[in-house]
Amino acid sequence: MTETFQISPEQAEMYEAKYVPAIFAQWAPLLLDAAHVTTGQRVLDVACGTGILARSAADRVGPSGAVTGLDLNEGMLTVARRLAPDVEWRHGDAADLPFEPDSYDAVLCQSGLMFFPDPDQTLREMRRVCRPGGTVGVQVYASLGSQPAYGPWVELVARHAGPEATRLLSTYWAHGDLDELGRRFDTAGLVVEDVHTRLGTVRWASADEMVQVEIEGSPLIDRISDAQYTAIRNESRELLGEYRTDTGLQAPIGAHLVIARQR
Ligand SMILES: C[S@@+](CC[C@H](N)C(=O)[O-])C[C@H]1O[C@@H](n2cnc3c(N)ncnc32)[C@H](O)[C@@H]1O
Repeated sequence: MTETFQISPEQAEMYEAKYVPAIFAQWAPLLLDAAHVTTGQRVLDVACGTGILARSAADRVGPSGAVTGLDLNEGMLTVARRLAPDVEWRHGDAADLPFEPDSYDAVLCQSGLMFFPDPDQTLREMRRVCRPGGTVGVQVYASLGSQPAYGPWVELVARHAGPEATRLLSTYWAHGDLDELGRRFDTAGLVVEDVHTRLGTVRWASADEMVQVEIEGSPLIDRISDAQYTAIRNESRELLGEYRTDTGLQAPIGAHLVIARQR
């Protein structure tokens, strides 16, 4: 069983109220469009979290279809069940999917691959549970080097906190290299049919909030001094100033949608 930290239902409610609208909700319609999810299909959402993709999929497939959301985190599933009791929610590991071969027409994963210790194993599992001719689709974030806001911001942090900061802030960008990701799909026996790269928006109340969430949500917070943290905060306000709007900070974020066919 893959190790992952468990969060409480209260923390999962916070994820749903704050982070889903700010970061994750925008990818669900794009991934469902790219995967051509339609009425009557059986859809699996791997690492569903509080279920934004599964809920959107349920709206598309309608009563003649069926959607399952799977996550390792019971806290996330508690919120998912509250929001959509009619969807099937399953506790399980993306590396060992508790489903028979050929169970789904579309097997999707949004903002999840970077958290799996063995992403190749998950892609093999996604392929196994997908029917022949069905669709496996994944949304990941583009490489840090091509991120217009996060790229320069991580450089700023590394200037103050040292190069180790780049590694500590790297989880989200881990699968942004499309050549490498394409090889992973190949190795899993999946034929990539379509790749879309999209620029989305991350919404924060302010640059200070973005810095707080990103730094305090990473191990970096224990490795920097108060003076370093203050300098990062001050310079971030200036660096991210161009993304300030009347309603807060709207920073661009690039993502890839990779769509493959189960052979
Ligand atoms: C950033 S959240 C994305 C959730 C959701 N897909 C969304 O777009 O809101 C990542 C999710 O991956 C889940 N996760 C991490 N490792 C997992 C594993 N091995 N198997 C299943 N889920 C996992 C976490 O519990 C978390 O809900």
